[in-house]
This record gives sequence, C-alpha cells and structure tokens, in this order.
Amino acid sequence: MIASLYQQAEQLDAHDPLRDIKAQFALPDDMIYLDGNSLGPVTHAAKERAHEVVEQQWQTDLIKSWNQHNWIGLPQQVGAKIAPLIGAHPDEVIACDSISVNLYKLLYAALAIQTQRFNEQFEHLSMARRTRIVTQQGNFPTDGYIAQGVVEHYAQTLTLDYVAEDAIVESLGLDVAVLMLTHVNYKTGYMLDIAYITQQAHALGIVVIWDLAHTTGVIPIDCTLWNVDFAVGCGYKYLNGGPGAPAFVYAAARHHEQLKQPLSGWMGHAQPFAFTQEYIAGQGMLAFLCGTPAVISMSILDAALDVFSGVEMQDVRYKSAQLTRFCLLCMEAQGLLAELECISPDDSSVRGSQLAFTHTQAYAICQAMIEKGVVADFRAPNVLRLGFAPLYVSYHDIVRSVAVLTDIMQAQTYLDDVFQVKHAVT
Ligand SMILES: Cc1ncc(COP(=O)(O)O)c(C=O)c1O
Repeated sequence: MIASLYQQAEQLDAHDPLRDIKAQFALPDDMIYLDGNSLGPVTHAAKERAHEVVEQQWQTDLIKSWNQHNWIGLPQQVGAKIAPLIGAHPDEVIACDSISVNLYKLLYAALAIQTQRFNEQFEHLSMARRTRIVTQQGNFPTDGYIAQGVVEHYAQTLTLDYVAEDAIVESLGLDVAVLMLTHVNYKTGYMLDIAYITQQAHALGIVVIWDLAHTTGVIPIDCTLWNVDFAVGCGYKYLNGGPGAPAFVYAAARHHEQLKQPLSGWMGHAQPFAFTQEYIAGQGMLAFLCGTPAVISMSILDAALDVFSGVEMQDVRYKSAQLTRFCLLCMEAQGLLAELECISPDDSSVRGSQLAFTHTQAYAICQAMIEKGVVADFRAPNVLRLGFAPLYVSYHDIVRSVAVLTDIMQAQTYLDDVFQVKHAVT
C-alpha cells in the first residue's frame, strides 16, 4: 500500500510548479517540517541578510544605517512586499509590532470610526449607539484577550460576544460596532468567507477586522476587491520572518483620513525628528507605527519575503489544498483515521493549509513524531496539528510523515515516558 502512495507522490511532485523553491530554504537534512503554521524556516537569503545587518550595517555603519540602509523605511518597505499577497495596495500595509498589539490599535481605530459616524449622524437621525464587539468562538485566545481589555476600558458601554463560526452573519445587527474574526481557525483550519461576511457586515454598518495569521503567504485573498476595512497578519508563520518577526497591519485607503490609533508613539508622528511636544499623526499607515522598529528582525523578514517573488499565489493555494487532501488519503489508506479523528473540514474549499486530529495522547504522539524527524505541533487539550507550507513541503514528505505516524500508532511508542514530558512551549 505505502509503495503505491510513494509512486503517487512521485507523480505529483514531478508536476508541481513550486518544487524548486524548497532549495531556497535552509531546512535541516532528514527533517520534514509540518509546522510552518507556527514558525516558518529560515531562507538562505534571510540568513545572509542577518549577517549583513549585524556585521556590516550595525557593526560598521552603525547609526548611519538609519539613512544609508533605509532602516527607517523598513516598516513601509516590508508592508509593500506583503501587500500583493493580500490584494492590497503597497501604501495600505505596514509592518510593525505583534498581532496582539496591532489588534489593540485596530479595535480602537474601528471604534473611533463608529463614534465619528454616530456623532455626525446623531443630530438628524438619532441613531442608537452600537454596543457590541463580536468575534468567533474558538478564536485564537490573544484576539479575545485584547478585545476583553478594550471592553474593560469602555466599562459598561461595550460588550464582547463570542458567536459560533457557522452563525456569524445571523448574529449581527445594528447594535454591532466591530466584527473581529480570524480567517482560518488556528486549531481546526476552518476558513471563513471574507468576501461574504464583510459584505453582510457592511450592509449593517459594521466595521470588520480580519486576523490573517494563518492566511498570509498560503491563501490568496483580495482586500481591495472584497472591501476589507482592516486586517492584521503574522510575520513568523508562512512569511518565514523568524521567531518574533514583526506582524503587519492593513487599513483600506478609504479609512486613512480618519485613522485614530491609541498608541501615539513618536514613530507614528508626522515628523518624528522634529521632536515637538504635540502629537500629530503621520500620513496613512505611518500613523500605525509606535516605537522604534526592530531593525534586525524586520530586515530578516524583508529578505525572507523575496521567496514569494515570481510565485503565483493561486499555485500556492492549489498545492496547499492538494497536500491536505493527499495527507488525508494516505492516512485513510493506512487506517489511521479511525483512531485519529480529523476535526478539520472535509471540504478543502473551506479548509486552510492545515489538518487537526484529536487523540487523548496527541501531545505524546507529536513528541514521538518529532523524535523521528517529522515536526508537527500540539494544541491543548488534545489536538495534533499538521501544517502544510507548499513552498517547502513535498508530496513525498507527506507519505514519509504518514509512514512514521503509522509506525508510532501501531507500536504505541508514544506511551513511552520520554514523550509524556511537557515543556514550557508545547
Ligand atoms: C490567529 C492568531 N492570531 C494571533 C496570534 C499571535 O500573534 P502575536 O504573537 O503576533 O501577537 C496567533 C499565533 O499563533 C494566531 O494563530
């Protein structure tokens, strides 16, 4: 059985237009990396840039580098490279801070828009104030935590509602100020319909924020065509920017005039080096900056993004769907799906680039896989998560991973004490 799966994989790899891109990554030999949805691997270009930034720019050129190597312009430069991946204009995206921090900025910006609309219309329409922020149940915790903090600040006047992922549109009404959603669920991989939900929310006057952490770099989207208001995304997953790489913010140009974000730091000032007392927000996306950019990290992300040049995102999406389908097919053929229950959608058109399986021993199974060179990850309480990054995962990798998993499940090696030890980061 496994031999015929290897044959199918060979055929699929031979016809894969992305197959040569893996060579741009410095992946360890003998490792199959199914965790790019958590931390992408380093590219050769990113490694070279890291050396250059530290040994040339920082060591030799020191402070001159802010101008000489355009350190100061990196947030926009990186934003402009990310823009085509999400169907945005280059001046609608900026790289900065983390998703968590950027969500805080965006929630305030979105609420400020609603307050302004309310104030403008109040005299003649007597509109009711909008009092709800809505998000999905099972959203990544930080999104909810940040919203909880915002709601607490607006004590008594706002509530945060968690609604089921399949009932989002039905839950909306004229009392909703902001809808904040993650496009691809971090655990199950369930993918929401950005175009449809945004349109339905807009019909009710709601401002929508999308978290694209598990989207950017693996699923093409079109912020311009779909009228997206605001979005955030991650630099360290499918964009391969390295641990703690800066995140990004997208804001549609139509909102730039009235942008108000609460972290009014000096880098977001219209003239940071005028050192004036009064804060005057910079133009457009610049207003989203707060403090000094993390230049080393930002430079590495900048170099890592070059792997996407010349890559068709439609090809990436096609392969991502094929990889998840093929993995399920291999697991079915090996009889693994009876024991490892797949909680990702069956339909690949609503599935991101990952598969999730529940098992009481999910953590230990994951550790046993890692020991055999197949890196997956675990999400509490009982989910084994496999991520499929089409730029460096091959169909052959899938069969090999499934073969390893089959051995582990059959021999129950995961019951070994060594695989039960929980580390600080699971
Ligand atoms: C959907 C989602 N949002 C946000 C985050 C965390 O973002 P950050 O660490 O940049 O704040 C993650 C991390 O995995 C995530 O999966």
